[in-house]
Parts: sequence; structure tokens; C-alpha cells
Amino acid sequence: MIRKILLIALFFAATLCKAQYNTMWLPDTLSGTNFNLTIKDTFAQIVKTGNQTITSGINGKFWGPTLFVNKGDVVHMNVTNKLNDSTTIHWHGMHLPAVMDGGPHQIIPPNTIWQPYWTVKNNAATYWYHPHLHVMTEEQITKGIGGLLIVRDNVESALPLPRTYGVDDIPLVLTDRDFTTSNQFSVVPYGDSMLTNMTLRAQYTLPAQVVRFRILNAAIERSYNLGFSDGRSFSIITSDGGLLNAPVVLNKYLLHAGERVEILVNCTGQNGTNVDLKAYNSLLGGFIAGGENFTTGPFGNFLGHKDFNILHLNIGVPTSNPITTLPATLTTNTLLNAANASITRKLTISDSTGVVLTPPVLGPNAFILNHKLFDINYIDYKVSLNNTEIWEITSSSVFGHPFHIHDVEFNIISVNGAAPTAEQAGWKDVVFIPGKTGGGPGGGGTPTVVKFIAKFDDYADELHPFMFHCHISLHEDEGMMGQFVVTNPTAVNENVAIAIPFTLYPNPANDKLFIQFNNQDQSAYYITITDALGRTKLMLPKPELQNGIDISKFSKGIYYISIIEDTTKQMVTKSFIIN
Ligand code: C2O
Ligand code: CU
Ligand code: CU
Repeated sequence: MIRKILLIALFFAATLCKAQYNTMWLPDTLSGTNFNLTIKDTFAQIVKTGNQTITSGINGKFWGPTLFVNKGDVVHMNVTNKLNDSTTIHWHGMHLPAVMDGGPHQIIPPNTIWQPYWTVKNNAATYWYHPHLHVMTEEQITKGIGGLLIVRDNVESALPLPRTYGVDDIPLVLTDRDFTTSNQFSVVPYGDSMLTNMTLRAQYTLPAQVVRFRILNAAIERSYNLGFSDGRSFSIITSDGGLLNAPVVLNKYLLHAGERVEILVNCTGQNGTNVDLKAYNSLLGGFIAGGENFTTGPFGNFLGHKDFNILHLNIGVPTSNPITTLPATLTTNTLLNAANASITRKLTISDSTGVVLTPPVLGPNAFILNHKLFDINYIDYKVSLNNTEIWEITSSSVFGHPFHIHDVEFNIISVNGAAPTAEQAGWKDVVFIPGKTGGGPGGGGTPTVVKFIAKFDDYADELHPFMFHCHISLHEDEGMMGQFVVTNPTAVNENVAIAIPFTLYPNPANDKLFIQFNNQDQSAYYITITDALGRTKLMLPKPELQNGIDISKFSKGIYYISIIEDTTKQMVTKSFIIN
């Protein structure tokens, strides 16, 4: 009997040990030039036992597909919002027209299809897409809306790099979550549980060869100080927006919210061994997200100022055509030259200690940009098209903030006067602004000064701004965000009210609706179709009208089409019938 109990106990101990890890989930992939993305509320069994978690997913249960696009292609996105709330989808890192950017201005109401498109001009690297609805970003990212966007180009494709998705080229989406006792997400800045590709206690098997990880910090707030449990070094091959000139060999890499990095890890000859990818966050100071050791209160969590596992790696047999050596060089980046800058914009980051903020914020202080909270009706800057600009950010905040700008990839010029380290000396769209040196939350100390340089080419639009903000979603939602428009000073701006005659045909329609402007110089800047109850059904930024508008999915009835004309920015609305 005792023997039997012992055996049962042993059996349970063994299963418990096995249950320690879960095989890491891999997002599905989509490629081509036409992408259908449907966002909806759903459930996922994230915690092994007990209730499923209420999540939001894109084409799935949690998180979304990895989109592969090629530089030079025109990509069309069909984004359908099946949530009960409005949302937006922002293409983080993409250089595209502001009206396609998916920032807080491009709101997609429930049951609406939004169809942005653009020519991929970015370098090969790992980008991502995520919601950006002001004040809702933290909550909607927490529920799991987002996905990776991988750009391929000729330069990267010609290199002997691992690129078999899920085999030797592995996406890692890092975040953390807090679960209630009934396994539901709490919307909090820091979670108690690490999620790697939405998997708790993740493990994965690697082939014994050179492996590439594409790592995204998709956390609400936390930075991850990446390293391996055996102290091995790894090669950094990209910054956010492209390849570095050459791999940079390190054994720790600090990845902040919104940033991406691709690394190569050499596992050649290590078949049968294992190693952990970890966050060495005990090495972080208290003013870097994840370095604080709050155990209670709104920022309390189990992972603060601790080292913890991100991914348990089992090394198995190599593939038949393995990459076994690391490249010595990658590309030749032509970085922007400060001598060509036409303006230095001075921005500030500060703590709002003592300042009464409306609406009230979660923490003891909000963090603010340019001495004010975000106001969607206030444009901080007008940037002239083709300007090369230096942005100089002076931070008197005690805390470090990952600063992100839309539209462009930039080059860091300096952090407190020092040139960027080799792994930061490429194309970036997020730059970490460390907290001031010395002093405390109340004042004192020496501010941090970070400078970067960017060129604002290709896309001007007086109406739709681009955003800049802290990529800690909590700070962003609390108002640590500003906006700029890129303007084209040479474009003729006719403010005269002129008629915008156009014809809609056929009317009634049932499949496709065509629009013909009487004046050939006129074109559509934005088209919105609403039904008889005023509900938005379709949003078409800068639509290509030659093939008509697909209305085949709409039910019969009266609809309204509002067209904003491109040169005059005037709006005309007409009704039509679908039968
Ligand atoms: Cu990743 Cu403005 O966002
Ligand atoms: Cu962005
Ligand atoms: Cu911040």
C-alpha cells in the first residue's frame, strides 16, 4: 500500500516536472500583398487549468498573424473591426502616409472595414502592428491585439542568414500579464507572469546550428535585459528599422517597450543540451521599467528587479542545410548627416510632480512631454516635407522612457553627449531616454539629453498628423504623447470653396460602386460609407477608384457616401442604394 502511494506520488511529481514548460506557440503567417485582418473578442486557454481568458485576437484567439511583406510592393490591408468598441491599427515603424498610419485619428468603429495601403519603403527588419486608440491603447494591447510585420528586401535576402520561420528564424513576442483568480487579465502596467509568444513558461526546440530570434518587446511597460543562462554571447544584427553594418557581439541586450532586435545565437554542436533565455532585470536600476522592486500598489508585481525565464531552449538535431557560421558584415548604412539638418527641435520630458492633472492619472506623477498632456486638437510641430531635423529631447524625469516617433526611422546622434554604441548606431524608431542623473522625483539632478536625426520625406498631409510618444502604453494613455504634421510648402493650397461634382454609378448598385469626378484633377482623399442609421461601414483612405468599391458584403438598403476631395479637402455626401 505504502509502495503504491509512493509510486502515485512519484508519478505526480514526474508529471508536475513535465508540466513545468509549455511548448511555445508560433503565430501563423500571411504573405503577399493583400492581407485580411479581422479583430474580435474571443477566448484562449492561456492558463492550463481553469477558465479560459477573455482575449482579443486578430484572425485567431490572441495576438495576430505575422505578416511578411517585400520592400517595393504595394500592400493592401483589409482591417475589419468586429470588436464592440472602436479601435485603430498602427503599423509601427512603417514609413507611410499619415492617413494610413493607424494612429489615434484613424478610428475604426465597430463593424467597419478600414482599407489602408502603401508602398513598402522600409528596410528588411522586424516591425509590428498594434492598436493606438487614445486612452484605450493599454487595455487593447493587454487583451492581445497586435502582430509582427516582417519586411524582406534584396540586401537581407542575399545574406547567409537563417530564415525558415519557426525552425531557425524564430519570432519572440515578449510581454507579461497579471491574471485574476478566474484567469482573466488585469489591465496593469506590470504582470506577474512572463508570456513568450503568449505562452506561459515557454519552451522550444532549436536545431544545433545558427539560429535567429526576432524579438519584440510588446510589454505595456517592462524592459527586458536579455541574456542566456550559460552566459553565452550572441550577435545583434538589427536595430528597429534595419540591419546593422556588422553583427555586434554581446552577452546582454536591454530591450525597451516597442523596440525590436534580431539576434543570432550559435548552437552548432550543442545537440542534446539546453539553455534558458532570461531577463536579467535584477541588474536594472530602479528608474528603468522592470528594475523597480515594488511588491504592492498599482505597480506591484513578482518580476520587478528579478531575473526570470523568458524561454527554455532544448537544442536538438540540426536541419539538413544548417547555417553554422556568423556573417562578418551585413550592410552599409548611409546614416543621416547632422550638417544637413535644417532645424533642431527641442522637446522636453518631465515629471508632473506637484502639477494637478486632469484627468487624474494612475501613478503619483504622470510623465509629460513638452510641459503638457496630449491634446488631440493640438499640433506640436509643422515639419516641412523633405526636412532633415535634429530632435533634441531633454528629460528632467527621474524615470527612463522609450520615446517613439511615427513616419520615420532615425539615427541616434548622442545620449548625454556620447555617440551611440555600435548596436544602437543603425535605424531606430524607439530611443530610450534614461532618467536624469542624481536628484529625486521632486527635482534636482542633471537632465538627460538625447539627440536623433531624421528625414521627413515622401508624405505630406496637412490634415492627418503623425504621433510621437512614450511607448510605455500607460504613460502614452495618460497623455505622454504629441503630434506633428508634415506639410508641403510648395503645394498649391486652394482654400476657395469650389464645387466637387462627381457621379456615382450604377445606382442602385449591388456589387461594385464606381465614382467619376467631373474634373479630372480631382481625386478622393478619404471615402466613408455609412448606412441609413449613420453607422460607419467602410473607410477608404486615398482609395484607388479605377476598379470600383467592393460593396458586395453589404446588405440591401440606403447608404451614404462621403467623399473628402484631395486638393480642396472639402467633403460632399451623396446617397445610393444597394439592392
Ligand atoms: Cu508602436 Cu505610436 O506606436
Ligand atoms: Cu509607431
Ligand atoms: Cu514613459
